[in-house]
Amino acid sequence: MRILVTGGTGFIGSHTAAELLNAGYDVVIADNLCNSSPEVIDRIQDVTGKRPVFYEADIRDRAAMERIFRENEIGAVIHFAGLKAVGESVQIPLTYYENNIAGTVTLCQVMEQAGCHVFVFSSSATVYGMTNPVPFREDMPTSATNPYGWTKRMLEQILTDETVAHPEWSVVLLRYFNPIGAHPSGLLGENPNGIPNNLFPYIAKVATGALPRLNVFGNDYDTPDGTGVRDYIHVVDLAKGHLMALEYAFNHKGAEAINLGTGKGTSVLELVHAFEKASSVSIPYVIAPRRAGDIATCYADTEKAAKLLNWHAQFGVDDMCRDGWNYMVKREGK
Ligand code: NAD
Ligand code: WQD
Repeated sequence: MRILVTGGTGFIGSHTAAELLNAGYDVVIADNLCNSSPEVIDRIQDVTGKRPVFYEADIRDRAAMERIFRENEIGAVIHFAGLKAVGESVQIPLTYYENNIAGTVTLCQVMEQAGCHVFVFSSSATVYGMTNPVPFREDMPTSATNPYGWTKRMLEQILTDETVAHPEWSVVLLRYFNPIGAHPSGLLGENPNGIPNNLFPYIAKVATGALPRLNVFGNDYDTPDGTGVRDYIHVVDLAKGHLMALEYAFNHKGAEAINLGTGKGTSVLELVHAFEKASSVSIPYVIAPRRAGDIATCYADTEKAAKLLNWHAQFGVDDMCRDGWNYMVKREGK
C-alpha cells in the first residue's frame, strides 16, 4: 500500500514517514521545502533502511498533484503540509488561507479525481479555543483566535462537509496537542530557523548557547506554579498515532475528530527542569509578561483515541527532553 505524505520532510511528517516505512508501507512524500530541507529524505533512509519517493511539489499546484497520483497508485493521504506559525498568520492571513485552505482543497479535488478517499489530516488542539474547560473532549465546541487556528477549524468543516456529500470518503481529523522531542536516533527532529516561537525549541536553543535566556510568559496563571500548562507529546508517539488513524480510516467512513495527546499537563517551569535534568545544562530564565492569546491550561481527554484507535502515548516529558537534546547535540555538535 502506497501512502502519500504531504509535508513529509517536516517535523511530524518525517517521523510519520519513518514509522510508515518501518510498518511496511510504501511512502511518497510531497513537500515544497518552504520549511524543511531535502536532506531529511536521506535521514529517513538512514533511520529505516528504506528510501521514500520524493517530489518537490506544492499542494496548491494542481498539475504537480495530478502527476503524483498518475505516477503512483496512492491508497491514502496523510496531510501535514501547511504553514503553522501563529504570529505570522496574524501578519499575513491571506498567505495562510491560500496555502492551508486552498492547498488542501486542491489536494482533495485531485484525490477525488483519482478515486482516493482516505485522508488523515493534521488538525490542532488550537480548535478548542479559549473558553472550554480541561480536559478537552472532541465533542466540545470549536473556534479559533487567529488565522492559523481558523485554517484548522475551517478545514475540519470543509473535510466533514465532503464526507457528508460523498459518503465514500473517510477522514480522520487528528487534533495534536504539543508535539516535541525527536527521533531517538538523533537523526530526525525540529530545528526552526531564527528565534523559535514555541517553548521546547526555545529551551533547546538556550541550552546550546544560541540564545541567552528563556522568557517565561507569565507566572500568575491559575496553575500549580503559575506558569502555563500544556500537554506535551513525544513526536514518535504522535507519528505512531497516525498509523493507527490510517488503519481506522481504512475500515470506517465519514469524518472523525480525535485528540492525540497524553492527557497530562506539564508547566513551563516543569519542562525547563526536565530539560535541565536530561541535558545537565542549566537554563537561565526570566519571568516576562503573559503572551497575548495564551490560555492557562490545555490538555487532552484521551479516551476517544484509546477507544477508536487503541492508541496511547508511551513516552513522558523526560523521554521527550532526552531525545530532543540528543538531536540538538548530534546536529550542533554540542
Ligand atoms: P513543519 O513546518 O515542520 O512541516 C510542514 C511541512 O509542510 C514543511 O516541510 C513545509 O515545507 C511543507 N509545506 C508547507 N506548505 C506547503 C505547500 N503548500 N506544499 C507543499 N509542502 C508544504 O510543521 P510540523 O510541525 O511538522 O506540522 C505538520 C502539520 O501539523 C502542520 O499542518 C501543522 O499545522 C500541524 N500541527 C503542528 C503542531 C506543532 O506544534 N508542530 C501542532 C498541531 C498541528
Ligand atoms: C507553550 C507554553 C507559553 C515560548 C502552539 C500553537 C498551537 C499548536 C502548538 C499548531 C505556553 C510558554 C512559550 C516561550 C514561554 N501549534 N512559552 N516562553 O502556545 O501551547 O501552542 O504550538 O497547531 O496552535 O499555538 O505552544 O510552545 O508556544 O507554548 O513561556 O518562549 O510555553 O506561554 O504556556 P502553545 P508554545
